[in-house]
Amino acid sequence: MSFFNFLSSNIAIDLGTANTLVYVSSRGVVLNEPSVIALVDYKGNFVPYAFGHEAKMMLGRTPEGIRAIRPLKDGVIADFHAAEEMIKYFIRKVHKKMFFSKPIIIVCVPYGSTPVERRAIQESVESAGAREVYLIEEPMAAAIGANLPITEPQGSLVVDIGGGTTEVGMISLGGIVFAQSIRVGGDSMDESLMSYIKRTYNLLIGEATAERIKKEIGTAFIAGKDVGATSVIRGRDMATGVPKEITISAEKIAESLLEPVHQIVNVVKLVLESSPPELSGDIVEKGIILTGGGALLHGLPELIKNHTSLPVFVADEPLNCVAHGVGRTLENINALKHILFKQYW
Ligand SMILES: Nc1ncnc2c1ncn2[C@@H]1O[C@H](COP(=O)(O)OP(=O)(O)OP(=O)(O)O)[C@@H](O)[C@H]1O
Ligand SMILES: [Mg+2]
Repeated sequence: MSFFNFLSSNIAIDLGTANTLVYVSSRGVVLNEPSVIALVDYKGNFVPYAFGHEAKMMLGRTPEGIRAIRPLKDGVIADFHAAEEMIKYFIRKVHKKMFFSKPIIIVCVPYGSTPVERRAIQESVESAGAREVYLIEEPMAAAIGANLPITEPQGSLVVDIGGGTTEVGMISLGGIVFAQSIRVGGDSMDESLMSYIKRTYNLLIGEATAERIKKEIGTAFIAGKDVGATSVIRGRDMATGVPKEITISAEKIAESLLEPVHQIVNVVKLVLESSPPELSGDIVEKGIILTGGGALLHGLPELIKNHTSLPVFVADEPLNCVAHGVGRTLENINALKHILFKQYW
């Protein structure tokens, strides 16, 4: 790193509902932590106590006097103070040696967010210590990170399935031609799984357990290899109040995930139906690209393929696509300035 870069490092952030990734210019992704903060009661004020991985382990396990919080919900800020403290900590962690000048920061916002929600994201990053903040829409960042030819006169269809939102965007000539966003993603899958277990087995489980089971044997579509797979779930029996353990099959998990998974499939179909025919035609050849952690759900690519009759591909490192896309935009900020914006009101 040259001395000049040392003075002028700028930052790109994928501020996600589940994970925050920070990219520093000329260095790449240097931080990847869960979007969680723990606050502790200090003389009546809640002050930051732990962040990221450390704070995530506390979710659902805190005594009185400590709060473990996820400051983002559905892709947008739900707790401004907690979000600001978390962003401030992550920026300091990567930028601590570079305080000569405040960085320019690019941060992504969901396509489906409102001006007020976008402004909250912009302000939280501003007050965390940016010289200037630019926003970029998440489907565009995901497409750039997945190496799609976004500036060409041809359609690229990207489906980013995050923790809080699923964003489907048809992109051509450097712009979003048509997109849709739903507040359904990995978190909705965890919630569906929790309520299914409660309904069917009278067993209460926490979010962390639901997420673990989903990652272990969750599937959108039962293929031959998944038949017979099982997992053990521990929770609290609603009738007796005591801890209990059950064994659950992959088929049952798939059943529990039906609703969110079909909402995702339907939004992909909607974007295909609403896009100009020339661009839809391009997708027949090039296929649909999945990014975000939800793209790792077993069977989801196959299910989307079956429902659309189009080729479906999962991007390399789907969890990092948006961060790589925002990072690449930062490195080429002059050429790509037209895809960045600020929220003034
Ligand atoms: N192997 C897996 N199978 C299924 N789901 C997974 C897997 N790995 C991660 N996930 C889910 O992916 C989600 C996190 O993805 P990602 O980091 O892309 O979201 P995010 O960017 O933080 O959220 P958003 O973009 O909605 O604000 C979580 O819900 C997580 O449970
Ligand atoms: Mg995301």
